[in-house]
Amino acid sequence: MSDGPVSAWSGAARPGCRIGHRIEAHATLPSTNDRARELLADADGAGVVVVAELQTAGRGRRGRTWISPAGRNLTMSVALRPQLAATDAWQLGLAVALAVRGACAAIAPVGLKWPNDVVAADGRKLGGLLVETAIEGDRIAGAVAGIGINVNWRRDEMPDEIAPAATSLAEIAGGTLDRAALLGAVAAALEAELGRVEAGTSPLDAYRAACVTLGETVTAETPDGRVTGRAVDLDATGGLVLLTGHGTLVVAAGEVTLVRPAVPA
Ligand code: BTN
Repeated sequence: MSDGPVSAWSGAARPGCRIGHRIEAHATLPSTNDRARELLADADGAGVVVVAELQTAGRGRRGRTWISPAGRNLTMSVALRPQLAATDAWQLGLAVALAVRGACAAIAPVGLKWPNDVVAADGRKLGGLLVETAIEGDRIAGAVAGIGINVNWRRDEMPDEIAPAATSLAEIAGGTLDRAALLGAVAAALEAELGRVEAGTSPLDAYRAACVTLGETVTAETPDGRVTGRAVDLDATGGLVLLTGHGTLVVAAGEVTLVRPAVPA
């Protein structure tokens, strides 16, 4: 771990709390998710938040790369030992999404694009989540909640391939935002959301209320091919229910490689 600017993150630590009692800040890491997974091997690793100013191999969903310049945004991962049955693992992704949305909503109006994107009111992407889960028998042995949020990224700094569909909290809210404060807010919200699902409260209704995908016509790339339909609901395990020309179809979050508004004919 290096010193210097990374020490600014320590003020976001939450002593005595389940999540964020320790913050491990790095100037550079390949991926905060990989470091958080390593921490799960330690007896005291659960609840530790890993943050990096720069990831050299940041990962997105479905093998994509997560691009984020040094020192502008929030790239963090939380090592978790959720008290959840393996059959409830789907709830974890929804709980993390709700937590991030809650923390960001204090700064700017944001919604959730199913399954794992945080978006601005105009649909542009502000953040993404990569939740990785290890199942042992019928329990979740450990999980890593990887969170990338565009915080102080200026439009003129965004690569051309990202700029049209991306935004940042500062672009919406103005000014320069305190990334450590946002990390603390995400950690607190995640602790609350996780506690709720562990206590048996389903995150489905809260996710439905925050989900901007419902009511939209979307195209999804699934292992069985491309499907287009109107997103009308989430099923009992968080799958997206589509009304297509051939009937109702449920797309599972783990299966989908792309969901976007359908291109008008
Ligand atoms: C996506 O939208 O595809 C998910 C992006 C998740 C990016 C975050 S940044 C912190 C953590 N470390 C990673 O390598 N990925 C996640």
